[in-house]
Amino acid sequence: MTTALITGANRGLGRHFAAELLARGATVYAAAREPASIDLPGARPVALDITDPDAVAAAAALAGDVDLLVNNAGISTGAPLLGDLDAVRAEMDVNFWGTLSMVRAFAPVLAANGGGAIVNVASALSWFAFPGSGAYAVSKAANWNMSNALRLELAGQGTQVTSVHLGLADTDMARGIDGPKADPVDVVRRTLDAVAAGDLEVVVDEWSAMVKASLAEDPRGFYARFLGA
Ligand SMILES: NC(=O)c1ccc[n+]([C@@H]2O[C@H](COP(=O)([O-])OP(=O)(O)OC[C@H]3O[C@@H](n4cnc5c(N)ncnc54)[C@H](OP(=O)(O)O)[C@@H]3O)[C@@H](O)[C@H]2O)c1
Repeated sequence: MTTALITGANRGLGRHFAAELLARGATVYAAAREPASIDLPGARPVALDITDPDAVAAAAALAGDVDLLVNNAGISTGAPLLGDLDAVRAEMDVNFWGTLSMVRAFAPVLAANGGGAIVNVASALSWFAFPGSGAYAVSKAANWNMSNALRLELAGQGTQVTSVHLGLADTDMARGIDGPKADPVDVVRRTLDAVAAGDLEVVVDEWSAMVKASLAEDPRGFYARFLGA
């Protein structure tokens, strides 16, 4: 049996993570900036903005029995790196700093509960960028390599760190974007099955697999589609 805390559990992938974990028999702390928006029977709502250090510390104190931390909360502003610097910083504040803050607060909790596991929901955009994705892509690249580094730093306490990569999923974040969208239920089930199997990375869809493979190639080939070369 697992005791999980999921950030951004009020909607999108986070709500699906919470629902699936409840269905699998876990105790679920469903964290959200507005806890009244948690509508899953059986879930324990937690007020949590991951950019608020006091709220992060309070969540770790409250949920001392957690052995699975799902860092799902994220934002996508569409800001280019040469655009509004506040928007660029906001993406890093949530997708990198907020996520790292959660890991730092919960690492001792996980250690006390046998090691457990951390899931960081990254993106296919950890591995590429397209016009208008600058801030988000950089924040998700940081999120991905944060997982790699944390995996090493937490190995001694037996904490597994799994990074999740997907192109588009059918949630509010992808509304208005054309392209094949993964069913959030499938994303969540594949991720939780992968964590149970001890996998360190979940490459959810073909697009993510393709962009990951492209890193071994000359970038002129991949980026020709955006540069019109
Ligand atoms: N959907 C996609 O196509 C896609 C693709 C690749 C990766 N992802 C990643 O998947 C994760 C979930 O995204 P989603 O598609 O479910 O997006 P979503 O529907 O927009 O939901 C985002 C969630 O994150 C929460 N959140 C944002 N900032 C927060 C903060 N400072 N503190 C706590 N919670 C915060 C939101 O809470 P509020 O309701 O309060 O705003 C919401 O619950 C994100 O990390 C995203 O980057 C999504």
